[in-house]
Amino acid sequence: METPFFLINKEELEDNILSFESALKKIWPNSRIAYSVKTNSLPWLLKHLKTQNVIAEVVSDEEYELALLCGYKEEEIVFNGPIKGKAAFLDSINKNSIVNIDSQHELEVFKSNIKESKGNIGVRVNIDTSIFESNDIGYIEDGFRFGFSDENDELSNAIEIIRFGDMNNRIGLHFHCNSVTRSLSVYRKLAEYAKFIIEKYNISPSFIDIGGGFFGGVEGKPTGTDYITAIHEVLKNTVNIETTMLIVEPGSAIIGSAVEFHTSVIDTKDNDRTRIVTTDGSRINIDPLWSKKNYTYRIEKNTEARIKLEKQVICGYTCMDHDRIMSLLDENILSIGDRLIYEKVGAYTMTFGGPFIRYFPDVYVQNKNSLDLVRKRMKVRDYYDIHTK
Ligand SMILES: Cc1ncc(COP(=O)(O)O)c(C=O)c1O
Repeated sequence: METPFFLINKEELEDNILSFESALKKIWPNSRIAYSVKTNSLPWLLKHLKTQNVIAEVVSDEEYELALLCGYKEEEIVFNGPIKGKAAFLDSINKNSIVNIDSQHELEVFKSNIKESKGNIGVRVNIDTSIFESNDIGYIEDGFRFGFSDENDELSNAIEIIRFGDMNNRIGLHFHCNSVTRSLSVYRKLAEYAKFIIEKYNISPSFIDIGGGFFGGVEGKPTGTDYITAIHEVLKNTVNIETTMLIVEPGSAIIGSAVEFHTSVIDTKDNDRTRIVTTDGSRINIDPLWSKKNYTYRIEKNTEARIKLEKQVICGYTCMDHDRIMSLLDENILSIGDRLIYEKVGAYTMTFGGPFIRYFPDVYVQNKNSLDLVRKRMKVRDYYDIHTK
């Protein structure tokens, strides 16, 4: 197969789903897995997850429409984020999507237009950063961006408006935050904060929606069962798990570990300090935020040469000097045609990095006995058409 390409391991993908599904079935059966579409919005993936009884979590009108296009019904979509368009927002409420209100603007639209929602509306709570260990999260000083704060009047006002607009005075609560460590203690703290809010406002939530931000399919790290157990332990005496649905929104935990990116060495040379290895994959493909420090990778060599080099700087195809993916230390010398395969790169990669200099690469799915091409590499004509119509 011609590089560069992404390869999705279907079995691993399904194991990752199962890890959450089996834990939820056992611990909190009244629950849903809402896959975070932004994490990897490949249509094949969205359609496949739908067949696995997973619903979609979206954060824009575009993602909402994409989920519909991939076969999700409105009631199988969780609509989050502060940038919902008015028409899509109202439509999603009327058609029974689960909608978490995140901005003052949405609250105003809700108040003026909705009289009888049906337990499908939640409020995103702005979580007080002081509840966490400082090494677990960022933004301690300025607080999180999303949701309504309990520390001022914003949360109480939002709760009042949403409950008033519901036919049974019900409301859901949404508690996602990004953490640095994805550790279990983050979810314990989140659940404790949920408990505090539920008791303070005397709510019997229609749903509790927690995270995103889990590990999945990574050896030595917490599993679906660990996270769900931790959340349940804290909340089991606070809510009735038969009438309060638990929603989890894994993205990375579902697709991250199931994807590889295959690249080839296209050139090697020395400057006066080091060995430069140019490959046909770029950081744009696997690290569009330019923040990763290291990768799980393997090398498939074309030749038998086994000379070790102290340092080889692995670079991408772009003409940006900082498109340096990683430095290999004390590894066998790489030659043209050797393959470098990056593992566990399914999250925030293949649909995130844009077409730049070269365009989107192929994506294959590895089944037990077959290999399917599910995204054809983007052609120049495709690129041209997008930008001229
Ligand atoms: C609201 C929400 N849910 C779920 C996710 C998915 O997070 P991850 O891909 O880390 O699991 C995110 C990511 O930022 C998010 O903002």
